[in-house]
Amino acid sequence: MRNISLKAIIKKNVYIGNNVTIEDDVYIDSGSIIRDNVIIKKGSFIGANSIIGEYLGDFFKGNNKEHICIIGKNSVIRSGAIIYGDVIIEDNFQSGHRITIREGSRIGKNVRIGTNSDIQHQSVIGNYVSIHSGVFVGEETIIEDFVWLFPHVVITNDPTPPSNKISPVRIKRFASIAAGSIILPGVIIGENSLVGAGSVVTKNVTEGMAVVGNPAKEKCLADKIKNKFTGKPAYPWMYNFHRGMPWEKAGFEEWIKKS
Ligand SMILES: CC(C)(COP(=O)(O)OP(=O)(O)OC[C@H]1O[C@@H](n2cnc3c(N)ncnc32)[C@H](O)[C@@H]1OP(=O)(O)O)[C@@H](O)C(=O)NCCC(=O)NCCS
Repeated sequence: MRNISLKAIIKKNVYIGNNVTIEDDVYIDSGSIIRDNVIIKKGSFIGANSIIGEYLGDFFKGNNKEHICIIGKNSVIRSGAIIYGDVIIEDNFQSGHRITIREGSRIGKNVRIGTNSDIQHQSVIGNYVSIHSGVFVGEETIIEDFVWLFPHVVITNDPTPPSNKISPVRIKRFASIAAGSIILPGVIIGENSLVGAGSVVTKNVTEGMAVVGNPAKEKCLADKIKNKFTGKPAYPWMYNFHRGMPWEKAGFEEWIKKS
């Protein structure tokens, strides 16, 4: 059975499987494949040549089970995305081109994931998380709300690869991980902390601390780092950066008091 709104726009050469719901004002561009058991909520855009609800391993063993994939309202998924079955993405998701999100992952609301990023199985990503281009998020990583991962960050999980036992990373809320950093398995990145560009983080990062280097060492409290243009403290970043955040109108101080 399919439930496709008459108000949806489905372009040429789109394949739609069984048990698919496509709500009002969804736009699916040419060449995309919507596999079985997919729900695409109101107002979402699926770019050309994307695959939504991609098969899991059981399909290749001839034992394809029902794996639901839900795309939240008003999401923009740019061309070439591959989102597996058993993925739930909440509202207002935005992606660059050619992202991959593997099965079992849960993505909160207002999340952004940049071009060529790869989110591995069973990852949990909170609300308002911003992931830039070319980021690798290893299996079972937990990323809390309002975290930033800048380009080419790698979140690992296997301490002695290849092995059968993984040790996922946890990144606590409001933390920022600058470009090209590698977080080693099992590390916990503390709330409000900053990992400087190109760091290799081998140990837990204390709340509010800035670490840099390989291996990453404590540099200073993050709130001692100044914005190069204004000379004012750059961290916690929430006091300086509002665009797209829930405190955009009221400012962070007011917003946090109420939440
Ligand atoms: C961590 C960071 C914020 C530090 O900024 P800062 O405190 O203003 O640092 P400064 O440029 O004044 O450098 C202070 C010292 O720390 C060192 N340092 C700064 N960043 C470093 C890093 N990432 N790794 C190693 N050492 C670093 C500098 O070499 C300098 O050392 P010195 O005193 O021996 O000369 C900055 O380096 C950084 O990583 N920015 C993020 C860039 C990025 O990835 N942006 C997002 C994508 S566009």
